Amino acid sequence: MVNIAVLGYGTVGSGVVEVIDRNGGSINMKSGRDIRIKYVLDLRDFPGDRVEPILVHDFDVILNDPEVKIVVEVMGGVEPAYTFVKKSLLAGKSVCTSNKELVAKHGPELIAIAREHNINFLFEASVGGGIPVIRPINSSLTADPIVEIRGILNGTTNYILTQMDVAGWDFDKALATAQSVGYAERNPEADIEGYDATRKIAILASLAFGRNVDYEKIYTEGISKITVTDMLYAKKLGGAIKLLGSCTKQGDSYYAMVAPFIVGSDHPLYAVSGVYNAIFIRGDAIGNVMFYGSGAGKLPTACAVVSDIVDAAKHLDKHIYTFWSPEELTLAGTGGAVRSFFARVSGSPADCEAEIKETFGSVRFIQIDEAPGEFGFVTDPVTEQSFDENIKKIPGVLGRIRLESSI
Ligand code: HSE
Repeated sequence: MVNIAVLGYGTVGSGVVEVIDRNGGSINMKSGRDIRIKYVLDLRDFPGDRVEPILVHDFDVILNDPEVKIVVEVMGGVEPAYTFVKKSLLAGKSVCTSNKELVAKHGPELIAIAREHNINFLFEASVGGGIPVIRPINSSLTADPIVEIRGILNGTTNYILTQMDVAGWDFDKALATAQSVGYAERNPEADIEGYDATRKIAILASLAFGRNVDYEKIYTEGISKITVTDMLYAKKLGGAIKLLGSCTKQGDSYYAMVAPFIVGSDHPLYAVSGVYNAIFIRGDAIGNVMFYGSGAGKLPTACAVVSDIVDAAKHLDKHIYTFWSPEELTLAGTGGAVRSFFARVSGSPADCEAEIKETFGSVRFIQIDEAPGEFGFVTDPVTEQSFDENIKKIPGVLGRIRLESSI
């Protein structure tokens, strides 16, 4: 018997209880132990609910109970989650969490404490909801160095962009609908401005490259300035706009970024629509692999948490080594990253074709019927720095979007 305690009975916490109740038999067979929820911690009461008899309001009840071997933190936010998790680990209890803010900010420290105590700090659900990606990076993609991670890491923004693309809705309508169907929060800033994806790519990059990527140092652009006209240009180019989080190794430099990209239809991420997430990983020898699935939601996220509980139960007195040192991975400035750009300019190509070609060399011009009085052009691959310098020389620029893959 392995006793666990669940901290937080919100969406994910109640999902964890539901999945264990529903699938307890097979979960126990797969872990080789009987897993029992001994406590659920929440500030609220839940009269008549299944957890009423095991509900506690005082974390110390859990901390001081030597029978509790695994603490499941699904409260979200940095505090009090960090304090509870650290105390649990120091008391010799393994921790499983879905909390990306906690993992991005304190991951290396909490992993080190788990290592010192021969227990585990596991966080599969912190990135990609129900998609198995943390454990595959840690356990399966170990034969050769990872050189690129690129993902659609936020379901809310992917839903909004898909609705703008497919239904032709403007950003405000797509956001309002995302809020009404429960995908977007009432305050959607963390999702639409890319901050949520930034924490997730920082976690993935830290695991892939073995050193800590500080999420606060990742260049981040959200999707709030993307328009339906941008979508139409992307479509005419044979692509779609996606918010991508990426970390790549180019030579000896590491580049990380969260920003909207026009993704070509030849790229596996192009077809990832709606609230789905996907993480594309490239290794030197293995080539390309991709992980796809539900990036959010109660039961998918709960399943990822329960998979960690099973792993922790299988390794009660054995630390599973995690390749994530506290040493910082120095990120190169985005200026050196090389890629193609799409730019929109007011007027007609005839007005400034020569100037654009003289500035950018070979470019491809594009016009769409829905945007008279303007045009777009696509550059060959250039550094971000040279694009930023050169685009200032072109009059009437309306905007620019980065390109991923050949369009
Ligand atoms: N707000 C997040 C998303 C939830 O939309 O992807 C999962 O982390």
